Amino acid sequence: MIMGISMGEIPSEHQHHEVEKDRLVVSPNITACHLSIPYTGYTVSCCPPRSESQEPFIDFQFPDPSAPLRVRRPAHLLTEDEIEKYNKAVAMMRSLPYDDPRSFSRMSNLHCIYCTGAYNVKYSHLPMQIHKSWMFFPWHRMYLHFFERILGELIGDDTFALHFWNWDNPAGMVIPEMYMHGSLMNYQREASHFPPKKVELSFNRDAEIDPTKEWGGETDPDERMKMNMALMYTQLVSGARTPELFMGCSYKGPDADCYGPGTMENAPHDTVHGWTGSGSNVLREDMGAFYSAARDPLFFAHHTNIDRLWDVWRLSHPDIADSAFLDTYFFFHDEKKRLVRIKFRDVLNITKLGYAYNF
Ligand code: C2O
Repeated sequence: MIMGISMGEIPSEHQHHEVEKDRLVVSPNITACHLSIPYTGYTVSCCPPRSESQEPFIDFQFPDPSAPLRVRRPAHLLTEDEIEKYNKAVAMMRSLPYDDPRSFSRMSNLHCIYCTGAYNVKYSHLPMQIHKSWMFFPWHRMYLHFFERILGELIGDDTFALHFWNWDNPAGMVIPEMYMHGSLMNYQREASHFPPKKVELSFNRDAEIDPTKEWGGETDPDERMKMNMALMYTQLVSGARTPELFMGCSYKGPDADCYGPGTMENAPHDTVHGWTGSGSNVLREDMGAFYSAARDPLFFAHHTNIDRLWDVWRLSHPDIADSAFLDTYFFFHDEKKRLVRIKFRDVLNITKLGYAYNF
């Protein structure tokens, strides 16, 4: 209790404190979406056709805890029926008009918006960026959650679950076969990395053009597998002992600007993006560049594995307790096209979100 402050002054002091707290909590300024520049001389427009700020929004509610869990399994172990179902759901999503926020192109562009700075951070002129910081895991978890709910709604199945590209497991170290066909195929991928080529978790995108850098492209598949497993150990265990190391730097407002990806984001996240995208495109689009990555359906299986590994790491490590992190919020459209405001604190526990990982 500070002496000398009259009762009347306490609320304003308190309000001031609340405003200061709110300024630390980062969220996008959705009133103004603008063109973005993923690299010099190139602009992209990924903004929604009508401003999201003109839509009413609702606050996120956890799914009914008595509803069946959505069980996400590895892509390479799915049954023919499950593959067919997924193909159908994505085909339906692709057929929705651009007007519909649930359409595949709008979903892809949502990722583009948040990774190229098409929105600014609120109270700031700085572009919003959900990579290279503690935003990385929770933002993508939100994105996958709504993606899953929408796909389930389109095929009328509320137990529908995503699956993961299990590249950290010797049995999953190739592009899953199901992604080589139908609505899941994408030709903007590196053809020399098609199955049975083993994924290179430490892929260096500059090495193919710069012969002085080590390029493990021709490594024996068995050797490659061992190198992949060793990399997993450093990125998930030995190099990731604290939330700062694993989650990335603190992105707080209003000068929200930090550049420090966590171990997992650096590799295998970034490296698998680069390895998958086509080497004949400037930025190895689609997967190799943020603005185009989510145009490839494989993006979602890649990120579901990242999401699973975050959950594995959480088993033995604490969450970030900073309220600036916990209260950071974003907006997503749900399966009924409603705009939903959701906070990072809502997505820490996957059981509450209604899903689980299994083999
Ligand atoms: Cu938002 Cu894998 O990138």
